Amino acid sequence: MTDNAPDATADAQKKSMDDIMALCKRRGLIYQASEIYGGINGFWDYGPLGAQLKKNLRDAWWNDVVLMGCNGKTGPNGKPVRIVPVDTCIIQNPKVWEASGHVGGFSDPMQTCRQCKKLFRADHVPDLLSKSSWVCDLAGVTEKDEQESILVDGTAALTWTKKKGSKLAPGLAVFRDQANEIIATLKSSTAPIPLTMLIRILGATTEKPSPWPCPNCGGELTEPREFNLMFFSYTGAVFDEENKVYLRPETAQGIFINFKNVVDTTRVGVPFGIAQTGKAFRNEVTPRNFTFRSREFEQMEIEFFCHPDDTADWYAFWRDWRMKWWQGLGLAGDNLQLREHDRDELAHYAKEGAGTSDIEYRFPFTAPGFGELEGIADRTDFDLRQHAEHSGLGDKLKYFDPTRGELAKNGQPKGERYFPHVIEPSAGLDRGVLAVLCEAYTPDPGRPSKVYMKFHPRLSPIKAAVFPLVKKDGMPEVADKLRAELVQRFGRYGAIEYDEKQSIGKRYARMDEAGCPFCFTIDGETLTDGTVTVRDRDTLAQERIALDAVGDFLAEKLGL
Ligand code: GAP
Repeated sequence: MTDNAPDATADAQKKSMDDIMALCKRRGLIYQASEIYGGINGFWDYGPLGAQLKKNLRDAWWNDVVLMGCNGKTGPNGKPVRIVPVDTCIIQNPKVWEASGHVGGFSDPMQTCRQCKKLFRADHVPDLLSKSSWVCDLAGVTEKDEQESILVDGTAALTWTKKKGSKLAPGLAVFRDQANEIIATLKSSTAPIPLTMLIRILGATTEKPSPWPCPNCGGELTEPREFNLMFFSYTGAVFDEENKVYLRPETAQGIFINFKNVVDTTRVGVPFGIAQTGKAFRNEVTPRNFTFRSREFEQMEIEFFCHPDDTADWYAFWRDWRMKWWQGLGLAGDNLQLREHDRDELAHYAKEGAGTSDIEYRFPFTAPGFGELEGIADRTDFDLRQHAEHSGLGDKLKYFDPTRGELAKNGQPKGERYFPHVIEPSAGLDRGVLAVLCEAYTPDPGRPSKVYMKFHPRLSPIKAAVFPLVKKDGMPEVADKLRAELVQRFGRYGAIEYDEKQSIGKRYARMDEAGCPFCFTIDGETLTDGTVTVRDRDTLAQERIALDAVGDFLAEKLGL
């Protein structure tokens, strides 16, 4: 067995996304949606193993957050953390999205290339250019090299345009309308030209409106235009503006609009949280990196309501606890980081100075950088105030807190009416599954499968496998009885696999790729001395234990 590389960055870079995606397909974890029709960009289906893995992650969140109230941790107020669940509709009254700001503002600035017609998110263009094949070729570097400081000689750039340039970037202005002017500029340059400037010279783009040429072909990009990310449909038979509805782009608003319902119909009092998991939809312009940026995805969101004075304490509590939660599921090394947002990254609802941080994972496609897994934001009272105003409920949406306010003559507080502030830990379930997959993927040239999935036992979609060594001599019967016993005891946590096909080595290899932590083999000795072989996925160690001790052994190893 090969140990994990000590350097997490190198490890993440070494793992190939293509290999991980191939394993996901091969083992029934994730399939391209509508695959038999050629697929549909930005949509993914989960197969038998993937559906169970995703359910295990969702269940872990639900259990630890909702049922166990942050696993029994006390909050900054010294009391248990109270969270209640809801399950709200994907389609709501469209006024919800006007109030939340999504109708007016949930958009990305987009640019189209006038030559190749490709569409780009304006803020992605510089990054895409630095990785584009024509820029890398022009600079004589690979995409991973640092390009900021690269200088290119004018005559070398000219030679490039005559040789490979016209094939790699036919859209560049030097091959179109302004050829003579650009060639003259390059010829007259006495000093080497910074790469970033050279890109603009060849593309003949001005600072405004777009300072960059197309990352794909070098062509001219249009001005950025706003593109709303919400999917829409219509209710009823008449497809007009009046009947237009939106598919929710976040589950959070379903929580805010039910805040009053929950307060009025349960015994919860501020501080408390409302949680839900569910699908969200965004018409992402550039869905990419497997399930990382999809158009249909699932979120796990908590809106935690607290008194405005307590916001900073609760923000710090949630930020730290959420980080620990992901670490507890095996994303424990340097591949996970907590990053406080810079000021210019703050969302529309975030108050100046309010905390916002991301829990980020180093995916193979972001390495050495990181990609967001969960955001923890101080949303202030923005959403409740917006809904108070747009619904016409006004102050009725305020919370009456009987524990606060001036003291009355009887020494009891008179109570205080206020809009609670909200701390929102918002996690992506599909991104979580992807991080778990990338972390678990462990190449090991020494074993027949060449790779195994080192899932945390809590998340493994298959909890154990039972094999008869051969399909005779009563072994299948003993194995099947053990399988049935394990299903009774552990079936609610994941699958118990039974397999009698092919050689035992091939069956182990299959389970390694599926990330099954323990395989139990019934062989000749089982029939004589009542022991079985246990094979450990991670260490490859094999030991014999009593057949009737298998259940307790598994319970201890899985921590159940
Ligand atoms: N309610 C706040 C909210 O929705 P967000 O940062 O836009 O905030 C929260 O989304 C989480 O949802 C992200 O951290 C990410 O894990 C996940 N997410 C967002 N867009 C996604 C997409 N297109 N595909 C997959 N997951 C996505």
